Amino acid sequence: MRKQLSPATWEGVLMLVILTVAAVTGLIGWFVGHEMGIASSREQSATSVGTLATSTETTAQPVSEQVAAGGHDFVQFACAQCHGEQGQGGVSPDVPALTGAGKELTVPQLEHIINHGLGESANPTKPYMPVWGEVISKQQVSDLVAYVRAGLPAVAGAEPPLVPTDQGAPVAGTALYAKYGCINCHGPNGLGGVPNPQSPDMTIPPLSGADFFSEFNTDAKIKEIIRTGSVLGSAPIVSMPHWGGILSDDQLNALVAYIKTLKTD
Ligand code: HEC
Ligand code: HEC
Repeated sequence: MRKQLSPATWEGVLMLVILTVAAVTGLIGWFVGHEMGIASSREQSATSVGTLATSTETTAQPVSEQVAAGGHDFVQFACAQCHGEQGQGGVSPDVPALTGAGKELTVPQLEHIINHGLGESANPTKPYMPVWGEVISKQQVSDLVAYVRAGLPAVAGAEPPLVPTDQGAPVAGTALYAKYGCINCHGPNGLGGVPNPQSPDMTIPPLSGADFFSEFNTDAKIKEIIRTGSVLGSAPIVSMPHWGGILSDDQLNALVAYIKTLKTD
């Protein structure tokens, strides 16, 4: 015989149904609210990105692809570290601002300066403009010239790596090695391999390996060559630029500490 449900049991079932409905509704409510919360926080971050974009837009006007490429080269090849951000100068009294160069110098003159370098190669206390000819491609040189002639505008994302100052000298040195463009000539991790066809070794020396560390066997020797450079001959031979007057003593020490981590044998 089927068991009849007493009114009390009905009441119980009804309560259960109500409770379940309430719980499910609550769950859905929480879920929807939660999702919306995420959505609105996403919206918030989208808005802040939007705000950022607008604020950079005011400084970074849209530029042509070539000028943008030149702006990135300007950072990659450390032009900004000697001539100042966007060529504004102010880094060293021996390095001119480039803000007038686009009007004062012709395209061939600008190309020549970038390819052959400029400045006092004989005076180790002063910086001289590196010879980039063998290292930078023709396309990159013409992009750089386009960038200088466009008045060195801000280009979004064209920024040198940040140099952490509280994580020890080797870490700072790693960032400086990229920021000051050493990496373009001496290769990632100082492995070398960048051609310098008209130099005696036909290549820019690596900064790792037994040869390097037997010649540069003290911190002082490594520091000195970075500060004073080494002129192998006139352009198009690539020489070691002088960084005297550009890199501080602390920066030189950090670079030395980093280079010493590269010892491979
Ligand atoms: C190690 C520092 C250093 C770096 C890096 C450097 N320059 Fe120079 N640059 C100089 C110095 C020093 C001069 C001035 C030489 C002089 O007139 O005595 C100069 C001069 C110039 C001039 C001529 C300016 C004028 O008004 O006469 C141009 C153009 C120029 N540099 C472009 C560049 C570009 C582009 C880069 C990157 C590819 C670059 N420089 C990287 C140090 C540097
Ligand atoms: C434009 C290319 C170029 C750039 C940029 C450059 N170097 Fe050099 N560097 C050279 C050349 C070429 C030599 C070889 C000089 C020689 O043999 O007399 C050299 C030599 C050296 C040496 C001595 C190695 C040896 O065996 O002679 C050290 C150390 C060094 N560079 C460190 C640096 C650091 C650190 C930076 C960045 C701050 C840097 N270089 C940027 C081209 C460059």
